[in-house]
Amino acid sequence: MEMSNKNTNLHRAKRSKDDEFYTTYETIEKELAHYVEQFKNKTVLCNCDNPFTSNFSKYFICNFNVLGLKRLICTSFSQSDYEQPSLFDNLNPISQKGFVFDISNISEFYDGQKTLSDFLVSSNSVKELKGNGDFRSEECINYLKQCDIVVTNPPFSLFKEMVSEIMKYDKKFLIIGNQNALTYKEIFPLVQNNIVWTGYQFGEMKFRVPADSEPRSTRYWVDETGQKWRSLGNAMWLTNLDNKRRHENLKLTQRFNPVIHQKYDNFNAIHVRNITEIPFDYSGIMGVPITIINRYNSEQFEIIGEANHGSDSKYDIFKPILNGREIFKRILIRNKTV
Ligand SMILES: C[S@@+](CC[C@H](N)C(=O)[O-])C[C@H]1O[C@@H](n2cnc3c(N)ncnc32)[C@H](O)[C@@H]1O
Repeated sequence: MEMSNKNTNLHRAKRSKDDEFYTTYETIEKELAHYVEQFKNKTVLCNCDNPFTSNFSKYFICNFNVLGLKRLICTSFSQSDYEQPSLFDNLNPISQKGFVFDISNISEFYDGQKTLSDFLVSSNSVKELKGNGDFRSEECINYLKQCDIVVTNPPFSLFKEMVSEIMKYDKKFLIIGNQNALTYKEIFPLVQNNIVWTGYQFGEMKFRVPADSEPRSTRYWVDETGQKWRSLGNAMWLTNLDNKRRHENLKLTQRFNPVIHQKYDNFNAIHVRNITEIPFDYSGIMGVPITIINRYNSEQFEIIGEANHGSDSKYDIFKPILNGREIFKRILIRNKTV
């Protein structure tokens, strides 16, 4: 077997398929539009991003001057699916190293006309890392220390590690994840204490996936160019950059009605089926769908905990049972204004 094939197989074996979801330019552009002024004079780190293929890198290169960035750093993980560019094939065909793109000045406006790859090569700002580009490695943490804001879509399996690392170094961030992460014991208290919150896009998101992804019966398609795609119904942006959405009050129109708003069998809280049914005049604890986290204003509500199995963590207060029937997990809130 040739070395390069061996190397490719090694890459394939090592990476976790569910971690290879590549973000579209539109998803990034749409979200970033809400935070433009917060990027002025800032150093941005994209630490799960091959600058030759990632739309995060592309977005920040295209908008470097519009945003007024100070510096852009993108580090790439050696085991990511996309082929390393020929530049690096020539350098070292069996390299297990990641690389870094680090730039503080883009004088020539990158307008998408020149290919991204030509731009990167001519910028002389890409170099090999010492290690594989793992965002937890010492050299990548050094870049983390130098940045102001981390913006990326990390592997979902390492999401909580990414958040805890960012929090450890007290950095700002705007990252994509799966809504399930909101109830992880490492993430939930950050949401509850208003240290982090969700961004604007919450729910449907589509992603390019690698060429060797297995076909699926739902949420999977191949476009006319042969590119494979998957969509998620429960994706989200998580951030600690302020945004307008989190200061907007949820408009409540329903009066408390004990027939509609029934008490759980095993806890003194009412069950609220939909966010639109939250009563405006109830001061006790309410079990509401998890999507409340994307509609929540901390001036209006406080988050008390979650009701899932009653045992997942200290924040998981009880298992919701209504008229003898188990209910899907809820977030427990209280209206502070009643
Ligand atoms: C969900 S994909 C997203 C890629 C890119 N950020 C984007 O949005 O298109 C996550 C990427 O992180 C890479 N990765 C996996 N483990 C990593 C690690 N420990 N450190 C850095 N990157 C990693 C994967 O190979 C993959 O390319």
